[in-house]
Amino acid sequence: MATAALEIEGLRKSFGGVLAVNGVSLRLEPGRIYGLIGPNGSGKTTLFNCITGLERRDEGRVFFNGQPIDGLKPYQIARQGIGRTFQVIRVFPELTALENLLVVTQGDRAAAMERALELLRFVKLEGLKGEFAGNLSYGQQKLVEFVRMLMRDPSLILLDEPAAGVNRTLLNDLLDAVRRLRDQGKTVLLVEHDMKVVMGLCETVFVLDHGEKIAEGSPGAIQMDERVIEAYFGR
Ligand SMILES: Nc1ncnc2c1ncn2[C@@H]1O[C@H](COP(=O)(O)OP(=O)(O)OP(=O)(O)O)[C@@H](O)[C@H]1O
Ligand SMILES: [Mg+2]
Repeated sequence: MATAALEIEGLRKSFGGVLAVNGVSLRLEPGRIYGLIGPNGSGKTTLFNCITGLERRDEGRVFFNGQPIDGLKPYQIARQGIGRTFQVIRVFPELTALENLLVVTQGDRAAAMERALELLRFVKLEGLKGEFAGNLSYGQQKLVEFVRMLMRDPSLILLDEPAAGVNRTLLNDLLDAVRRLRDQGKTVLLVEHDMKVVMGLCETVFVLDHGEKIAEGSPGAIQMDERVIEAYFGR
């Protein structure tokens, strides 16, 4: 078996009495797009936070390209090649779209500029490079955050509800960009409530409920799974 892009073993994280992630294991093969779904509060964002070092897990192990990343700081994990976006958007409204990309870079200014312009082109935002991020639409801000995450050229990309609040046109640009990243060999894990987006993008979907992985499979199979239906509609 090839080395997994990401392998999680028995991950557990609680906040006080709340078991946010309860013994989750999963494996991502390189060059594929995976979905992570589950009702509100099922632990999706907490799982991302544990992978990226923002939260310290209570138990479990995380391997990136076969190497343990347990205990590393968020910036160290980012440097190793894991990029993520946030459920609540994080752009600098008083900086231009272009500056929002440049703030994450160090060193060679010209190379960073070239990369930033290339990425804005990648999501058809080059015409807005000089616009303050605060003046962009919500969807455009999300695209800016998305390509800023790509500045360091991560090989594993974690997206927390990228489609939420994004209009149809921008959404298609985003989904197209995600597919092209996969075609470049990158691995993508996305949290998404919109099942149409999940169906159109993901080969494999993991389902969380109350912090536990209750199902794993193709989007079609997942939608027929009794435990999944119960988790979403059974209460
Ligand atoms: N920093 C925190 N302190 C205390 N409880 C937290 C914290 N972060 C998350 N939780 C709790 O952990 C559980 C999982 O939350 P999490 O945000 O991971 O869910 P989610 O699946 O991302 O939900 P949503 O779909 O609403 O974004 C919830 O019960 C939440 O209230
Ligand atoms: Mg969340």
